[in-house]
Amino acid sequence: MDSSILPALLIALFIPILHLVTRFKYSSYNLPPGSLGFPFVGQSISFLRALRSNTDHQWYQGRIGKYGPVSKMWLFGSPAVLMAGPAANRFIFSNKDLLFTGTRSMNLLSGRNILMLSGEELKQVRGALQNFLSPEMVIRYVSKMDEEVRRHVKGNWVGHKTVKVLPLAKRLTLDIICSVIFGQEAGSVREALATDFPAMVRAALSIPVKIPFTRFSRGLSASQRIRKLLRGIARERETLLQQQQAHGASAADDFFAYMLALRAEGAHSLTVEDIVDNAIFLLIAGYETTSVLITFMLWHLDKEPEALAKITEEQDEIARNKGPEDALTWDDVSRMKYTWKVAMETLRTIPPIFGSFRTATRDIEYQGYHIPKGWMVFTAQSVTHLDANIFPEPSNFDPARFENNSSIPPYCFVPFGGGPRMCPGNEFARTETLVTMHYLVTQFRWKLCCKEESYKKDPSPTPLLGLPVELEPRCLPENAHA
Ligand code: HEM
Repeated sequence: MDSSILPALLIALFIPILHLVTRFKYSSYNLPPGSLGFPFVGQSISFLRALRSNTDHQWYQGRIGKYGPVSKMWLFGSPAVLMAGPAANRFIFSNKDLLFTGTRSMNLLSGRNILMLSGEELKQVRGALQNFLSPEMVIRYVSKMDEEVRRHVKGNWVGHKTVKVLPLAKRLTLDIICSVIFGQEAGSVREALATDFPAMVRAALSIPVKIPFTRFSRGLSASQRIRKLLRGIARERETLLQQQQAHGASAADDFFAYMLALRAEGAHSLTVEDIVDNAIFLLIAGYETTSVLITFMLWHLDKEPEALAKITEEQDEIARNKGPEDALTWDDVSRMKYTWKVAMETLRTIPPIFGSFRTATRDIEYQGYHIPKGWMVFTAQSVTHLDANIFPEPSNFDPARFENNSSIPPYCFVPFGGGPRMCPGNEFARTETLVTMHYLVTQFRWKLCCKEESYKKDPSPTPLLGLPVELEPRCLPENAHA
C-alpha cells in the first residue's frame, strides 16, 4: 500500500470510531442538537475564520437558525455548547457548576491567575482584586490617569497631522495600568512590556504546540520574559514590606505591595509566583479591552456628528470650569454622563470581548438538554446586543438607548459579563475612557484616513489598518486646561 494513504486511512477510520464511542458514552444523555464534526478541531477553523472576517455574528445566527439557541460542536480541542439569548447569559454567568475557562494556550501562557482558581482560593483572589479595583480605589487613580493621558496627548497627538489610533490607545492604556500596578517603577517596566505583551496576547487563540517561530512559541517566550521581570519586582516589594513591618510602617501603593500586605494580614495565601500571574492577567485584562473601546469610540464619532457635538458640549463645559493646569477630578468624571452613553453604545455594537467561556464541573441540564461534565459552554455578547427585539434597529448607533438603563432587560447588555464573575475592572475602564475622551474631544477633530476601514476579531476587535486618522487641533474653550 502507498505509505501516504495510511494516515488518511487511519483518520478515516478514527473519526467514525470516535463518533461511535461518543454516542455510546452519552447514549443516556439528551445532548443538544448539532454535529461535533472532526474530533478536536470540529468547528474551530470556521469559527476562527468568522472572527477574523468579522462575520461571527452571522456564524452564530446560522447555527441558531439551524439548531436553535443551544447547539453542540467541537471547539478549540473540547466538545462545546453554544448557548444563545438572555436566559443563556443568566445561566452561564451565574451557574456555580460552570467554571471559568480560558483556551488551553491562554492557560499555558498566563499561569495560575484568577481564571484558573476555584473554591476558597478564588474567593480570596476575587475579593482582593475587587478591592484593588473598587470605586473607592479608582477615585485615587484619577490623578494618575489624568497625568498619563496628558503626557500621551502632548507627546503622541499634539503637532501630528495623522496618527494611528489603536496602537496609541494600547500604549496609553498599558501605561495607565502599569502606573497603577507598579507605582513608582512603572517607567522602567513599560518598555519591556510594550514589546512582549502583544506577542503574548496574539498567542491566546493559537494552537498550543511548541514549534519554533509559531504564534504560540513566540507568545510563550514573551510570557517567560514578562514573568521573570515581574518576579524580580515582586521579590523587591516583599523584602521592602518585611523591612517596613519590622519598623511598624506599611505602604501599599501598588499592586504587589497591596497583595503582599493582604497576605501578611491573612486575607489570602497566594505565593509570590501566584501574585505575579495575577498581575500579568490584570495587565492584559486592563489594557487590551479599554484600548479597543477608546479606538472604536473615535471610529463611531467620525461617522456620528450629532453624538460628537453633544460630547463636545459636555466636555467643553467641564474644561471651561478648570484652570489650565488643573487635573480632572472624580467629580468631573461623574459629570461625563453623555460621553459614557456613547461608550456604552460602542460596547454594545463592538464589545471588546466577544464571548464568555466556561467548563461544566459536573453533568448539568439546560432547557432539557444534558451537558456532560468537562464540556465547554459559551455565550456570545453580540447575540443579545444585536437582537432587534431587545435593541430596536440594532445596527443604528444610538446612545439614547442608554437614557434609561432600567429599560434594558437583565442579561441583555453584557459587555462586562455578569453575575459573580462580572468584570471587576468596569469602573476603572469607565474612568480611564472618560479621562481620555475628555482630552481628545476638547483638543482635536479627527477624520478617518480610510472611511471604509473594517475590522477583524483577533481575538479582540482590531481595525485592519490600526485606524489612521487625520488630526486637526481645536481651539480650547476659554480658561480650559491643555
Ligand atoms: C472596556 C473595558 C473592559 C471590558 C469590556 C471588560 C470585559 C470583561 C469580561 C467580558 C470579563 C469576563 C466576564 C465573564 O466571562 O463572566 C472580564 C473579566 C475580568 N476583567 Fe474586564 N473588561 C474591561 C476592562 C477591565 C479592566 C480595566 C480591568 C482591570 C484593571 C479588568 C479586569 C478583569 C478581571 C480581573 C476579570 C476576571 C474576573 C474573574 O475572573 O472573576 N477588566 N472583563
